[in-house]
Amino acid sequence: MSGWNDLSAASIAPLADSQLQQTVDVLARAFCSNPLNRAVVRSDDPDRCFRSNRHSMRTLLPMARLHGQVLVATLDGKVAGGLVASPPGHFPLPPPPLVDGLHCLLRQGWQVARRWELVFETFEALHPGEPHWYLGILGVVPSARRRGVGAALLSHWLAAADRDGMLAYLETDSEGNLRFYERAGFSLEGETTVLGVRTWRMKRAPAGRRRNY
Ligand SMILES: CC(C)(COP(=O)(O)OP(=O)(O)OC[C@H]1O[C@@H](n2cnc3c(N)ncnc32)[C@H](O)[C@@H]1OP(=O)(O)O)[C@@H](O)C(=O)NCCC(=O)NCCS
Repeated sequence: MSGWNDLSAASIAPLADSQLQQTVDVLARAFCSNPLNRAVVRSDDPDRCFRSNRHSMRTLLPMARLHGQVLVATLDGKVAGGLVASPPGHFPLPPPPLVDGLHCLLRQGWQVARRWELVFETFEALHPGEPHWYLGILGVVPSARRRGVGAALLSHWLAAADRDGMLAYLETDSEGNLRFYERAGFSLEGETTVLGVRTWRMKRAPAGRRRNY
């Protein structure tokens, strides 16, 4: 993909059973400093955020693997990042089995779960009308950032969207991420404030339908 620093030594592959726990931890950790995550958990304590996020990831990843796509990046044999996406027609993911959903709710707390629900409902209402691939999660563990791991995951996923000739779509709560996504061909679609946090929606036409950036 043009414009990327392609130095990453990360290997990208679909999530394997043996990587589930590591991937839960990596993704739970990756978002602890993100403004929306902090607004939902209502805490500046990264460990509290991490523990809360683990419950979400443990519930989400098995469902995402069954009904969507979960990619994992490994560096030196360790999970360094992950990506969760929904193919066209598979968003939103079906709810988790009742027991898993209740377990998550009890561990995370009703208020946190309610705020996540509000975030998801707000974003869901703003999805594009046309069929699209949706990037639900992209996270790299802080110690492995700026080494091209995120770009490698994104590029792997976008290759599928390009093969299908499909639009790709995402939201982000960090202004600093806009440049990262613009380099992959995304452009700004709109801005929404949720729980007092500014978020941006971005979309990317498939390679054949895109101007050169
Ligand atoms: C956003 C995120 C996934 C990026 O992951 P990453 O592995 O750091 O991404 P990359 O290394 O591929 O690229 C990040 C930047 O590092 C630069 N970079 C890549 N390899 C580099 C290297 N070897 N040396 C220096 N810089 C490098 C890239 O050019 C890019 O610069 P840009 O921001 O100006 O575009 C990561 O920061 C993250 O997990 N953030 C928290 C969660 C989040 O916000 N996720 C996105 C949700 S939508």
